Amino acid sequence: MMKIRTIDWKNNKIRLIDQTKLPCKFVYLDIDNLKSLWQAIKELKVRGAPALGAAAGLGMYLGVKDYPGSDWPGFSLKLKAVAEYIASSRPTARNLFWGIERICGVALENKNKPVAKIKQIIFTETQKIMQEDMASCRKLGNYGAKLLKNKNQILTICNAGILATIDYGTALGVIYSACQQGKKIKVFSCETRPLLQGARLSAWELYQQGVDVTMIADNTAAHLMSNGKINAVIAGADRIASNGDSANKIGTFNLAILAKYHKIPFYIAAPKSTFDLKIKDGRGIEIEMRKREEVAQILLKKDTAPKGVKVLNPAFDVTPQQLISGIITDYGIIRRPFFKNIRRILRSDKCV
Ligand code: MRU
Repeated sequence: MMKIRTIDWKNNKIRLIDQTKLPCKFVYLDIDNLKSLWQAIKELKVRGAPALGAAAGLGMYLGVKDYPGSDWPGFSLKLKAVAEYIASSRPTARNLFWGIERICGVALENKNKPVAKIKQIIFTETQKIMQEDMASCRKLGNYGAKLLKNKNQILTICNAGILATIDYGTALGVIYSACQQGKKIKVFSCETRPLLQGARLSAWELYQQGVDVTMIADNTAAHLMSNGKINAVIAGADRIASNGDSANKIGTFNLAILAKYHKIPFYIAAPKSTFDLKIKDGRGIEIEMRKREEVAQILLKKDTAPKGVKVLNPAFDVTPQQLISGIITDYGIIRRPFFKNIRRILRSDKCV
């Protein structure tokens, strides 16, 4: 596999691929202050749930590393302020909050140590978050690849690939693993209006990795399914409730309904850090609403709607668990009944 690293810590800054520039330009953005990180998250320069978990963790370190004091009470107030600021960037991906909570957790556990030491511990934790993501995506990919047969044709939406994680992907990680096992897999990537993550990002990275990818307009999915061209749908998730209801990019729910009608398996692929066991079902998931220009213009450039016309732009929808055939995780594939099996499979580890 060609190595691409979405986000990292380099030269005392956060280094990330500016995803708004793809596929035209591959450029890194170096971030040395919290406000720029917040904007990068808001503007989707860095996006995708697991990558947001890493961005949140690194952002916590960036935000506190220059705190001048040596007292825990002052330092903990700073941590809280940084946490609240990062948390205000985007509401839906559980991983963002998981990253913040993880850093706050290690800081609290070590509060009796000198502040300089706590900063070091926080930094180490950011590295662990990234390394664990690299490992868990590969584990998830291997579990998921068992579901795919040679010559399968897979439909996906948005980007749940290298660019949504540190370096491997969830839904696309399953494809990469299957390809590495020698299976020939063909991928159909929904372009994913309004911001075209499927076209700009998934088609780009799959093509870079030598995977057979065909981009389609979103409204082509039913046609392909009815012609027997799709063996499975695999999508990522931003947040998964206790009962398995899964939030992902707007349009994922549409694909799940189409898959059910055509009797095609529909899988969600996500690491443990995407599960939110504090919420009962999808009704508890906050759906991010974004600005009208994303829908009323093509990539924030050219108007496609009359000025003044009303626009609705929810960034995510929730696929009800009844439509999900299985959830591919780094702990194995979770099958129905989801409420019981999610707890049984994920409970073993204290991070949830
Ligand atoms: O708005 P985005 O681009 O952050 O939306 C991302 C998605 O919907 C992904 O499918 C999801 O975060 C899973 S990433 C492994």
